[in-house]
Amino acid sequence: MPVDVLLGLQWGDEGKGKIVDVFTPEYDVVARFQGGPNAGHTLEFEGIKHVLHTIPSGVFRKNCINIVGNGVVIDPITLKKEIESLQKLNVDISSILHISRKAHIIIPTHRILDAASEAQKGKEKIGSTLRGIGPTYMDKTGRNGLRVGYIEDEDFMRRYDKLKSKHEELLEQMNFEYSLDEEEKKFFEAIGLMRTLSFTDSEHMLNRLMKQGKKILAEGAQGSLLDIDFGSYPFVTSSNTISAGACTGLGIAPGNIGRVFGIFKAYCTRVGSGPFPTELNDDTGEQLRKAGNEFGATTGRPRRCGWIDIPALRYAIMINGVTDLIMTKPDVLSGFDKIKVCTSYKIGSKTIDYMPFDFVNAPIEPVYEELPGWKTDLTEVREESNFPAELSNYISYLEKTLEVPVSVVSVGPDRSQTIIRKK
Ligand code: IMP
Repeated sequence: MPVDVLLGLQWGDEGKGKIVDVFTPEYDVVARFQGGPNAGHTLEFEGIKHVLHTIPSGVFRKNCINIVGNGVVIDPITLKKEIESLQKLNVDISSILHISRKAHIIIPTHRILDAASEAQKGKEKIGSTLRGIGPTYMDKTGRNGLRVGYIEDEDFMRRYDKLKSKHEELLEQMNFEYSLDEEEKKFFEAIGLMRTLSFTDSEHMLNRLMKQGKKILAEGAQGSLLDIDFGSYPFVTSSNTISAGACTGLGIAPGNIGRVFGIFKAYCTRVGSGPFPTELNDDTGEQLRKAGNEFGATTGRPRRCGWIDIPALRYAIMINGVTDLIMTKPDVLSGFDKIKVCTSYKIGSKTIDYMPFDFVNAPIEPVYEELPGWKTDLTEVREESNFPAELSNYISYLEKTLEVPVSVVSVGPDRSQTIIRKK
């Protein structure tokens, strides 16, 4: 049984957590393949609102196996908090959560290095979530990283001290002041909790489950436009957020990837710095932010808002091999007389309909087409037949221009606010 992948096609925050939660009854396993606690996947059901950072979004479904793959970076402190808040909701993760021994650990000095590095960048800062993600992936590729499997080894402390000393030297060179005691105490308490969890060689586990015919869903984090290779570099995260990341982050062979579900918002948002051609720095942007409650699930930062960007979406669909589109938050667009769609970019005298190499510095002017808006409150709509004609028109327009069917439409944060169009 091939592994399906679900990921974001924009700059993150497309609503992946909710959709994974909706999909899980159809899957036996949900596996995170990259990123770390920079992610904030929000799930809402039966009056409960819950944000997950590291743990896959299948934890609220009975009998669903949840795997944190080798491509993920884990902050034990955040993981401990997540486990404790799940315990309060009577979710016992002990038998359903498995963590790859090859996943890398974020140590307290990684987070301090993240802050020091952003401070050094000044105006050119990435707008990082400051969760230590970049420095941890740097240690991974620099062959200095601390892996989950080392927790089981006798020389874990030696490895930890060596990495910490390296960081302390760097921080001294950067002349960055910090205090570690409190965080280190929390870190070792959290490592104590991690020792009680199930560690696994997740690539073997997943391939075994696949052979047994289990249905597996790989859950992406962040978004395709934040991918380290294909995103708006350098304003990106430090991992491969695209479907290929599911292969390297889980140990799944490319031929074993099945459907690729690409999630996009009916408009567009970005949190942190970097280019955003369709950004609206006006009342309309503010209206979208308010109506969409566009504030980061991890950092609480206000998200930048703008119209949908077709060249960027088309690029993300191409890179990921998207087979099905999932549109979220068209309910936020209710009330607009006209909805704008960016169809191409004007750069000087040239107009192009693709993402150029120089996406960061080129003076990109979005070229828009206008579509009629709708007034209907969509949040109560449960059948496609009750869509206003203008929404159906918007969806048909997107399907035609993006050449991929929109299989699911989400009209609110709750599980129940989901319309499956095509199986
Ligand atoms: P980092 O991955 O925390 O270093 O952040 C790098 C960039 O990616 C920043 O612009 C962040 O705002 C953005 N980013 C990281 N994780 C997420 C996410 O889960 N959603 C949206 N943006 C994110």
